[in-house]
Amino acid sequence: MDARTIIETLRDGGEPTQAQLNWFAKGLASGAVSDAQAGAFAMAVCLKGLSEEARVALTLAMRDSGDVLSWDLGGPAIDKHSTGGIGDCVSLLLAPMLAAAGAYVPMISGRGLGHTGGTLDKLEAIPGLRTDVTEDQFHRITKAVGCAIVSATADMAPADRRLYAVRDVTSTVESIDLITASILSKKLAAGLDALILDVKTGSGAFMETLEDARALARSLVSTANGAGCRTAALLTDMNQPLVPAAGNALEVVEVMRALSDPRTSRLTDVTLALGAELLCLAGIEADAGKAGAKLLETLTSGKAAEAFGRMVGALGGPSDFIHTWATRLPEANIIRELSAPEAGYVTAIDGHALGMAVVRLGGGRMRDGDRIDPSVGLDEIVSLGQRVEKGAPLLRIHASSDRAAQAAEASLAGAIRLGDAVDAPDLIIERVG
Ligand code: URA
Repeated sequence: MDARTIIETLRDGGEPTQAQLNWFAKGLASGAVSDAQAGAFAMAVCLKGLSEEARVALTLAMRDSGDVLSWDLGGPAIDKHSTGGIGDCVSLLLAPMLAAAGAYVPMISGRGLGHTGGTLDKLEAIPGLRTDVTEDQFHRITKAVGCAIVSATADMAPADRRLYAVRDVTSTVESIDLITASILSKKLAAGLDALILDVKTGSGAFMETLEDARALARSLVSTANGAGCRTAALLTDMNQPLVPAAGNALEVVEVMRALSDPRTSRLTDVTLALGAELLCLAGIEADAGKAGAKLLETLTSGKAAEAFGRMVGALGGPSDFIHTWATRLPEANIIRELSAPEAGYVTAIDGHALGMAVVRLGGGRMRDGDRIDPSVGLDEIVSLGQRVEKGAPLLRIHASSDRAAQAAEASLAGAIRLGDAVDAPDLIIERVG
């Protein structure tokens, strides 16, 4: 086999066989396929598209380019994936809730990407906590606690790591076929039995329009099911941050509040809906209503908080974190308010601008390898439809210096629009699958 034949087939609108795609994915992982060939492959897929069958074949080939985990847990291995947004700390809440409900959640998560934060960066805001565990530790923690949130090893889906880096510099990131194979190859390498996808749409999401989000959700759901993992998706709103904060330690604070006080909030509502779907997909519960009630009970009983604490301890963080979190998390030197220039109702929030402000404050990476400052970010962010008076705070900026706070304030001018009263958008838009 050779890369040229595979690229030619794609270029001419044909479809490579499973064996050819397996060969290509292994070649990406080993380096036998060159960067030029990887770029041409990505561009051909981007321009010509793949059938559902070929998308499944590419996903499986990329999954099998490295280690694929298998589990012996006494129950199905289940997980959630989000396409990313602002203040999206669902994973940190959902994993311990599912564990407390008797499920097993081996969650391989990512770091911040573009304007969105990453679950691993948020979790690592907890002092001492490390997410780069060995495969053996990952197995032991998942079995003992019921959940473990960790980073992928270099041996999982290596073809995706290589292809993603090439896509990044060849303008081929925005292909639904390639995004699908990229996301799912990593998730399926974790050996999951069931997966729920949170596909976000709105100003803070990668897929800003409902149409694009729906197309991605359909592609992810059909491909994951075609690859043998029971999967559904919820399309959820990202026209405002999910919690009133964006930034690593500041989002952990929101999660700890939700774990200790299960009052209804956008975070708990989305988490309960995703979790209930997942318990049903996995066959652990037969009915979403009952599954939701079971998950809510994990919050009111304190069992989810307990599971979170055990996971934090097992990953090297403080073993008493659920009792001491208020004094354990890093805090920024400077806190400054962004004030409303006029009175009115909050009519729009530019999630992309909020996310980029956090990145520039040092809460995300401008370049691969940049160090993150876990203490910085935004909090007390107003909600859509909320009434504010002239001069009242729209949000607070947490920064490491006055200069950084001033720069964030300037970049956020106009990010929150005020006008006549509007209704808050529906949080859960539709189910796909
Ligand atoms: N996230 C991924 O893991 N891959 C993509 O292609 C896009 C988002």
